[in-house]
Amino acid sequence: MNDNMKKKLKLKVSAIKDGTVIDHIPAQYLFKVIAILGLNNIENQITFGTNLESGKLGSKAIIKVSDKFFEDDEINKIALVAPHAKLNIIRDYEVVEKKVVEIPQEIIGIVKCFNPKCITNNEVITTRFRVVNTTPIALRCNYCEKHTVGEQMRMQ
Ligand code: CTP
Ligand code: ZN
Repeated sequence: MNDNMKKKLKLKVSAIKDGTVIDHIPAQYLFKVIAILGLNNIENQITFGTNLESGKLGSKAIIKVSDKFFEDDEINKIALVAPHAKLNIIRDYEVVEKKVVEIPQEIIGIVKCFNPKCITNNEVITTRFRVVNTTPIALRCNYCEKHTVGEQMRMQ
């Protein structure tokens, strides 16, 4: 098989002309990523594939958003659920830039506080955390100051 055939075989979701391709999303978090980025409320053309084969992830998802170029702080919100996501910026069918996501210093929403007594678990309040460590992940709640660490992390 030549390289062109290999590329076609890989292209399970059509190429886009302009926009952003978010690759290497863990399949289980595809819809979480869609929600975090607010993709359910925009008019841009969006295509996605999920449960695609991926060496390191087992099974990955990919999202292609036409004519959308995310700000870093917008895209970095997905880092907690998709830490290995790769962004490809597409202009006129060509990949013009590749980026990785970085865990931001503050996490608003997305994650639950591990403390059952925390006000955010008992009233309708958006959670807020400071990231005090990244590997393993450790978040300090702005409300109760308790830490939510590694495996304790649950998505809201
Ligand atoms: N892509 C796309 N539309 C284009 C160009 C690329 O949807 N016009 C997608 C490809 O399908 C791929 C991603 O953007 O999922 C990155 O493209 P490319 O760098 O060409 O692929 P690879 O070399 O396989 O990159 P990587 O190994 O980083 O996935
Ligand atoms: Zn708390």
